[in-house]
Amino acid sequence: MVRQITTKLADWYRRSNQQLPWRGIRDPYAIWLSEVMLQQTRVSTVIGYWNRFIDKYPDAQSLAAAGLDEVLELWAGLGYYSRCRNLHQAAKMIVTDHDGQFPRDPEQVRKLPGIGEYTTAAICSIAFGEPLAVIDGNVQRVLCRYLGIDGDPRRGDAKHSVHEAADAALDCDHPGDHNQAMMDLGRSICTPRSPACQICPLGNGCVARASGEPTRWPQPRPKRATEEQWWAAAVVMQGQQVLTWEGDGELLAGHRGPPLARLAGPGIHAEKMADRELRRFGIEGATLLGHGDRFRHAITHRRLQIYPLVYQFTGEIPEAATTIPIEEGGRLPALHRKSLAAARKLLLEEPR
Ligand code: ADE
Repeated sequence: MVRQITTKLADWYRRSNQQLPWRGIRDPYAIWLSEVMLQQTRVSTVIGYWNRFIDKYPDAQSLAAAGLDEVLELWAGLGYYSRCRNLHQAAKMIVTDHDGQFPRDPEQVRKLPGIGEYTTAAICSIAFGEPLAVIDGNVQRVLCRYLGIDGDPRRGDAKHSVHEAADAALDCDHPGDHNQAMMDLGRSICTPRSPACQICPLGNGCVARASGEPTRWPQPRPKRATEEQWWAAAVVMQGQQVLTWEGDGELLAGHRGPPLARLAGPGIHAEKMADRELRRFGIEGATLLGHGDRFRHAITHRRLQIYPLVYQFTGEIPEAATTIPIEEGGRLPALHRKSLAAARKLLLEEPR
């Protein structure tokens, strides 16, 4: 059953012949660039960026020799900027560790920053003809529907079944074309919400189509229930500076910002809990200036209500604390930025 995918897809790919500037190219550098840009980004957006990048940085040497700021400027608007930083870093590694030649060995490719299993399979199959099946969200959808694979394809038995099917369906003579055909099919025909089953080359033999309800697959994992939580944010000022610490609790651990104290319910003992948290961070005797406006913030499965408390502190600043001007919270996580904004508003209103 799975092997039928191989030939039908190959015929369809030849007929559909989607024109993309990186199609038909075997240069691994150019393919790598396209694959990194295509992560989380639409094809139509990528085309212009890819053309401009290839013009300005035609190979790993020219990319590695450029300054990061200049490369980021060309990337501006494409989003997910860590992709660009990794790309630049990887270009430098290609020059220093691989004599400027893009590595052929999938294990070496996988070691480059920003390249995971999916991108490795895509680059190595397209550029070097390595028989590696690409499995991205599009491919998972196509295979779950065609074979009626139940369960979340990103984990457990369903993930295993998808991997087995992807390997079995792979056209080992033309793995690059096969992988691109799978991704094209998922993007253009076997779409998430309204698949065009009538024109699908895999329509005959597809379990989802036969069921009359193709969008029943893939099956997402059950949503975690959202939990309501209440937190106090203790914004401690010294003059116009805010004290920040690296969080070590269950919320925003590892991020700098004002201390956060979990409350048992809406506003319950907010002052007492914030004070207790401040003592833990070495602050005693701060003067409470007032309560900022309460705000909401959502983090994955949690819906938070934050009670900002604003203090003035004149004592010695603990070693673990860093001060930042209150207007410069721009680099903090969004929740902390909102606490600082609430504190600023209160300070502007408060007669001092
Ligand atoms: N999505 C990511 N890489 C792709 C490729 N090479 N072809 C089609 N879709 C893709």
